Amino acid sequence: MTGTMKAAVLVKPGQFDVRDVPRPEPGRDEVLVRISRVGICGTDIHIFNGHYAAENLPMIPGHEFTGTIAELGEGVSGLTVGAPVVVDMNIGCGSCYWCRRNEILNCPEMQQMGITMDGAFAEYISVPARLVIPTPQNVPVEVLALTEPLACVVRCARKANISFGQSVVVLGAGPIGNLHVQLLRTIGAAPIIVADLSEDRVQLALEAGADVGVTNPSALEETVLRHTEGRGADVVIESVGLPALYQQAAQLIRKGGHIAAFGLTGAGETLPVDILQTILQENSIKGSVAGMGQDMHDALTLLTHGRIKTDRFTGASYALDHIQQAFDSITDRPGDLKTQIVLTH
Ligand SMILES: NC(=O)c1ccc[n+]([C@@H]2O[C@H](COP(=O)([O-])OP(=O)(O)OC[C@H]3O[C@@H](n4cnc5c(N)ncnc54)[C@H](O)[C@@H]3O)[C@@H](O)[C@H]2O)c1
Ligand SMILES: [Zn+2]
Ligand SMILES: [Zn+2]
Repeated sequence: MTGTMKAAVLVKPGQFDVRDVPRPEPGRDEVLVRISRVGICGTDIHIFNGHYAAENLPMIPGHEFTGTIAELGEGVSGLTVGAPVVVDMNIGCGSCYWCRRNEILNCPEMQQMGITMDGAFAEYISVPARLVIPTPQNVPVEVLALTEPLACVVRCARKANISFGQSVVVLGAGPIGNLHVQLLRTIGAAPIIVADLSEDRVQLALEAGADVGVTNPSALEETVLRHTEGRGADVVIESVGLPALYQQAAQLIRKGGHIAAFGLTGAGETLPVDILQTILQENSIKGSVAGMGQDMHDALTLLTHGRIKTDRFTGASYALDHIQQAFDSITDRPGDLKTQIVLTH
């Protein structure tokens, strides 16, 4: 199969050009995927605004995607043309120390589709066959396109060892904070306390399964103590990306508690840590980034079995031709937690 395809090229910050580009050919051990749905992620908005990966422009962004297999490259077996799939966007070398640990972002050769190389705001993408995950036939594409963001949240819960009966505070009730809340509910964490400055976002998080919502930052610490028998939370997940909130998280955990570092701060930002207190109380902080390997499989399983409410994530969709409008107007739709680009129906 050769020829051209339609793609949304981000030519410079703030400006997409939807145009015909060469259709990728699947190389050896690669699979050509015909894309059906792609979510717009906060990272895409950072790229669009020129705040992230700007050195890679012009580029086709998009990494939260689902589609069907269009063609198999040489050497690929075990996959079928026409099968619906999701794709792990993180490409490691597959054989280094970090790849074997499923810590692919530490691989010296790491690439990410739609961030360091062309991605999925296009009709087709060619990807390594080992990163392709076939999906059940009966899951709607708008739900499958949530696999990658949910995988990030799955990884965070795994890295933080969150279990049933643990008290968890989620700072930030954006799209990802909402998924954290839903996964925590599924795990059986209790109570789940969510904080956001936006009343609407807190309300959505309460509908999604949070037990307590806080919009007034100065009331947060007292609220957490009141709901944790005066101890503080077992775990605080920072899902905003502000150093000041990481500092507040340290006040919200119990002795021996854990901070899940998830919200992306600016590069080089630092956190003052009381080292002696950290040692004596056995407190901890651990990062979690992206969703890969087992995280993708687990996220797909949760979506397939209806464990995540997706209606707030699937309402806003735009054709590829209108991607500029989709990005320009994204902040006008606070009730929609996700905007998706529709490629095929
Ligand atoms: N580590 C990872 O793997 C990973 C993956 C995806 C996203 N992220 C990061 O997670 C964060 C959340 O993602 P998102 O898409 O939901 O972001 P978002 O920007 O859409 O939502 C952030 C929310 O935080 C709220 N907020 C802002 N300031 C606040 C404050 N002082 N206190 C409480 N709430 C506040 C906002 O009202 C908003 O609802 C971002 O930093 C994003 O970059 C990390
Ligand atoms: Zn994303
Ligand atoms: Zn590697």
